[in-house]
Order: sequence, then structure tokens, then C-alpha cells
Amino acid sequence: MTEGKKRVAILISGRGSNMSALIEAAKAPDYPARIVGVFANRPDAAGLPIAANYGIATAWRWHKDYPSRTGFELALGDVLKLWRPDIIALAGFMRILTPEFTAKWQGRIINIHPSLLPLHRGLHSHAQALADGVTEHGCTVHFVTPGMDEGPTILQARVPVLPGDTPETLAERVLAEEHRIYPEALAMVARGEARFG
Ligand code: GAR
Repeated sequence: MTEGKKRVAILISGRGSNMSALIEAAKAPDYPARIVGVFANRPDAAGLPIAANYGIATAWRWHKDYPSRTGFELALGDVLKLWRPDIIALAGFMRILTPEFTAKWQGRIINIHPSLLPLHRGLHSHAQALADGVTEHGCTVHFVTPGMDEGPTILQARVPVLPGDTPETLAERVLAEEHRIYPEALAMVARGEARFG
């Protein structure tokens, strides 16, 4: 049953493990969304062939080929016109989007970040958490707004910070939770159970 399912485009930059979690979840007949395409901002994103192996449409545009963010986003927009997504899911997409782009998609674009936002935005969130000496860390799925790693929270998951943790061990513990909550959060948005504003 694909009728009535929301169309989702996933944007990635790298290995795409969250992308894979969303694709796997969307296999369930009663999942309220289907993945219509995976887009990367670089040709060597490891997630692209993985998505293609699932039989999902893929495309990339290398951001370095464009003189401006707006130029890159116009190219991305052309791909999205073909795929006609209802929802965009950023999954390790490491490009900042312009306010014009996020405004156009407001309420229909979501992101996952590996921290308990508003704590530890940006890069190296696990190292940031360890440097802060927090006892709990985690991940957040949120609606995207112009500010980086900002916007209303849809779901969060917490993990303990254990003695001897390194950024790598902590990242692994958090990633398992990312793979659990991202499919759940996307389903909430697709069903209209989570709304912007
Ligand atoms: C994930 O941990 C995701 O939360 C993070 O990048 C990783 C991508 O891994 N995203 C951000 O830091 C966004 N600010 P993946 O490609 O295996 O999903």
C-alpha cells in the first residue's frame, strides 16, 4: 500500500546509517511514509550506492561545483521537483541550508543531531559533551529552522555517559538511539502527530 503514504527525500553527506534506518523502517506495510529519493552534496557519499541497492532513486550535486549556496540549492531544487517529496529528512547532511530554503520547507524538513539540543550544536558534539563533563548525552530529531541545529524538538533519546568514554564509544551508544528514534519521529511527522508551531 503506497497510496496515502507521504513521499520522503533523504539528504545525506556520508555513510548514511540513519538513511538506512529510515529505508528499513519504511519497508513496513503500515509505515506512513516511503522514501522516494536520496540526495547527496558530494559524489563519494557512501550512502548513495547503499540507497541504490535498495532500488531507491539517487542523485548528487557537488556543492563545490557551485559558486554560492543559493546556486547549489537551485540544483537541489531541480532534483526535488522530480521526486516531489512531502517531507525532507536530513540524515548526516553537513551543509548549512539558506533561510530561504528552510522557510520554503518549514514544517516539512527535519534533521537528526547527535546531542541533547539545545546543548552541543555543530560539529564534534560527543567531544563537546565529554569536555562539559555531562552525565547524560543523546540525540534529537527536530524541525529545521534557519539556525544550525535549532528548531522545535520532535523526539529525543538519552544515553548515560560512562567512565572511560571516548568520543567514539559515546558516538556508538548515541547512534543506536538515533537509528531507533529517527524512524519513529519521521512517522510522527508523516501522520501529522508532530507539527511545526
Ligand atoms: C549522525 O550521527 C547524525 O546525527 C550526525 O551525523 C551523523 C551521520 O551519520 N548529524 C549531524 O551532526 C548534523 N548536525 P550517518 O551518515 O551514518 O547517518
